[in-house]
Amino acid sequence: MDLQLKGRRALVTGSSSGIGEAVARMLADEGAAVVVHGRNRERAEKVAADINAAGVAIGELSTDALAASVHAEACAALGGNIEILINNAGGSSTGNTARPPIEISTDDYISNYHANALAAVRLCQLCVPDMTAAKFGRIINVSSAVAVQPNNLGADYSGAKSALNNFTVSLAGSLKGLGITANTLSPGIIMVDGLLRFGRQKFGDPDMSFEEVSERFAAEKVFDMPPVGRLGIPRDLAVVACMLASPLSGFITGANYRVDGGQVRSLN
Ligand SMILES: NC(=O)c1ccc[n+]([C@@H]2O[C@H](COP(=O)([O-])OP(=O)(O)OC[C@H]3O[C@@H](n4cnc5c(N)ncnc54)[C@H](OP(=O)(O)O)[C@@H]3O)[C@@H](O)[C@H]2O)c1
Repeated sequence: MDLQLKGRRALVTGSSSGIGEAVARMLADEGAAVVVHGRNRERAEKVAADINAAGVAIGELSTDALAASVHAEACAALGGNIEILINNAGGSSTGNTARPPIEISTDDYISNYHANALAAVRLCQLCVPDMTAAKFGRIINVSSAVAVQPNNLGADYSGAKSALNNFTVSLAGSLKGLGITANTLSPGIIMVDGLLRFGRQKFGDPDMSFEEVSERFAAEKVFDMPPVGRLGIPRDLAVVACMLASPLSGFITGANYRVDGGQVRSLN
């Protein structure tokens, strides 16, 4: 199937590793012009060279000015406006999702809100005017299964992701008839490098593949496996991101796509 992504201009934030890297790679494979983003230039340039990207855009997204600089660098590399915006950068800004709600400082709630909600808000504010002029845009905000099914721990992170879902539905509704769609993509537990390293160390084999580590996690019940019986891999997300980024997906907006192997027990 031709997703009609050839030549489309895309920015994938946080694409120097993990889910973002897989999304950038698949978009590039589909012929899109992709800008790889991260805070570390060396890592981003390595991925960009590997996937034959249009270029890189480097920097934090934690203030309006920093996000504007990333946006400008991306547009320069693409030689035009961003048509496909994948707001993927994020994760727990404190690296600690193991605290009960009342033990998390208000500063940590704010910091996670910046990293997981406002980073995406800022880039939407920067991209939507051009998308409106062009009458075409695809916005995909990477959220999390915990946005709709929070754990008892890590409410600073999960609450920020819930806000991102809320923002996305509002945004989609506000862009009536403009040819712009906005959706969230919500991963379950996905085997990114950090988890892979943990697994290889735990099982004492530095050469284990993603799939092998995931299978051992399942066999030894390290994680509660979702109904599909394995953890996700970044490519699982990339498939859905490319589908939502396609011009063929113009009737899908304000939706939340769960890519979690069935982890979230919900009718939608
Ligand atoms: N993996 C999972 O199980 C899982 C589950 C649910 C949701 N998610 C969500 O999926 C997204 C990607 O996660 P991942 O697991 O693929 O993460 P990852 O492998 O750690 O990659 C994170 C990417 O984002 C960049 N980044 C991180 N914080 C940033 C910041 N403050 N400003 C700018 N760039 C930043 C990193 O690049 P640099 O380090 O170079 O800056 C890297 O490219 C996140 O939004 C996360 O919340 C992941």
